[in-house]
Formats: sequence, C-alpha cells, structure tokens
Amino acid sequence: MKHTRLWGISAAAILLCGCTSTQLNNMDSSSGVSTSLTSSSDNSSGEVIYSSSVIEAEYTVSEKHSISQADSLDVFKEDTMYIANGGELTVDGKMTSEKGGKIIIQNGGVLILNNESQLECDLTIEKGGKLIVGENGKVSGGGSITVKNSFDEIECSGSVTAKIIPPAPVTENGVTTVGGVLLVNKKYSIPSDFGSELITDDEAGTGLIRDEAYDALCEMREASGYTMSIVSGFRSYRTQTAIYNRNVANYGEEEANTWSAKPGESEHQTGLAIDISSLEQSYGDTEEGKWLAENCHKFGFIIRFQQGKEPITGYIYEPWHVRYLGKSTATLVYDSGLALEEFLGVN
Ligand code: DAL
Ligand code: ZN
Repeated sequence: MKHTRLWGISAAAILLCGCTSTQLNNMDSSSGVSTSLTSSSDNSSGEVIYSSSVIEAEYTVSEKHSISQADSLDVFKEDTMYIANGGELTVDGKMTSEKGGKIIIQNGGVLILNNESQLECDLTIEKGGKLIVGENGKVSGGGSITVKNSFDEIECSGSVTAKIIPPAPVTENGVTTVGGVLLVNKKYSIPSDFGSELITDDEAGTGLIRDEAYDALCEMREASGYTMSIVSGFRSYRTQTAIYNRNVANYGEEEANTWSAKPGESEHQTGLAIDISSLEQSYGDTEEGKWLAENCHKFGFIIRFQQGKEPITGYIYEPWHVRYLGKSTATLVYDSGLALEEFLGVN
C-alpha cells in the first residue's frame, strides 16, 4: 500500500520538481523511500524525498486528484492541506491524520471521502467548500470538522462520528438559523406570521406539511411498509395558541409546558415537523416506532425529543415527533447522538 502525503511548502518541492502545483508525494511504507507522483501542468516528475525533518508542510490541491482504494492519504501533525477553488480530492482509500494537522476546504474546493477516515486533525469547511462523505465513507476519531457557513456544505451518505463544530446562530427578522438549519424551541421562537403561506381554509392542524418533508415521508412509508399517518403536521400560530391554551386549562401550565409548545415555539409552525401515527410514548416500543428511530434519518428526519435529552430539549420524550432536516444533516445529527440543540451548539 502506498501512503500518500500531500505536501508543499513547496519551496523545496518546487526546486526539486520544477513543478508549480498539485504534487502528490507518495511514500512506499515498506522502503520509506518516496517518489513523487505528479499531475502538474508541466508534467515533470522529479523525485522528492520524504523527510521527517519537515516541520511544516503546506499543500494546496487545486486540480482533480484521487487516491486509489489500495492507497492511503496521511495527514501528519505538521501538515496543512488546502483544497482550493477547482481542487477536488477523491480519497477512495483510507485516510489517517494526526492531531495538529489541518485540512482546509476553501470556496470551490471539494473533498470526497469514500472510505474509512481517521480524523484526528482539524478539518475546516469554509464558505463554498464541500465535504462529501460517500456511502462507504466513515469519518471517525477525536478530530473535528468545523462548518463555517452551512451544513449544506457537507453531503453525507456515509457516517460521521467525529465532532462537528457548527457556525454561530444567525437571527434575521426574528428567525434563527444555525448553518442554515431553522431553529425553533423554547429559547428561539418564530414570528406569528411564520408559515402563513401554509394556512388554508380548512387548516385544522393536521395533514399539511412542506413539500420536501412530504416527499421524504412518502419515501419513508414506502421503504418501511408502515402507513405512518400524519397525526399532526403544520400548525399555524393561531392553532398552536388554541392548543396550548386548551392544554394549560386542562393540565395546568407547568405540566402543559413539558409537552406542549407555546405559540411561536412549536416546530409544527414550520411545516417541517410531523407527529407520526400515535401520541403515546409506548409508540417508541412498537416495531414501527423502533423502525422510525433507527431509520428516519436516512429519509431526512430526526426524532426531535429523545429519551434522556429532556433537560436539553425542554420536552418529554416524543417518539412520534419527527423534524425534517434533509438526509445529510439528519444523518449527521443521528450519528452524533446529540439532541438538535447540542448539535447546533445552542444548548
Ligand atoms: N409537542 C411539541 C413540543 C409541540 O407542541 O410542538
Ligand atoms: Zn409534534
């Protein structure tokens, strides 16, 4: 197996190779002798000796490169690897990395991880950068992935258990998003007219949800074989007011607050939340409820109010309430094992 280290400071490399960019330095693990594999524009192929005395190595990928399935990409503690505009690095083999190393995906750069990736270094996705974790991609380890702008800049169809550091919340016109994810809870409310375009004459708090959530629900129903009826979908501010007031009247404010959101604080007002099939906690123990918990992320949903996360979400366990986030982000949240507030860094 070849271990590939992308490197640069390229003063040394440039002098040796006469190439200006995009050099991959391959080290044969058995001999410890390295040869360069280059796809530089001038096609030079000078030899670069891999040196452990290299203190810092910076490398910029600005073209398309791939590391084959039989090889590995190693990012050492002194390395900084930039994936710049036009750069697309596909890693079909394994990736290893050391604490202290850095991978920075810049605007227009793409990193594709299709295999096991041991992430001990820090990986940053700048605005306009893209990290794609393929179906067989598994990113794990004690390193971190910093998302500077949007979770849409990660496309995950594999798994990521390394820590994700989210961007700061942004509030505009009374609506808070974190990395593009709409946040609605006891601390972050939405305005009373939010979702008003979803209100219809017969709005009774059931049935309606946004198209993307509905399409995902249909896909999930088909894959699961369960009917998964919508017990409650979109609820306007007005409807939520009536429901909340009724619950307070019947159960008292303190109890109602543990499972009924105040108007403006319910995800149902977004049109992206659905209560599926039942409103009993025992639903979580049914075959359908278990299937939902284990699989809904593959269709873009998360179980929003998990057991054990009550102090964070502010609500009791609701195995029926799913929130649509899109497949990739839902998978990231699921893999993290965190409540949405924890994942978004707002708990
Ligand atoms: N049951 C959830 C918390 C809501 O009322 O939105
Ligand atoms: Zn609900």
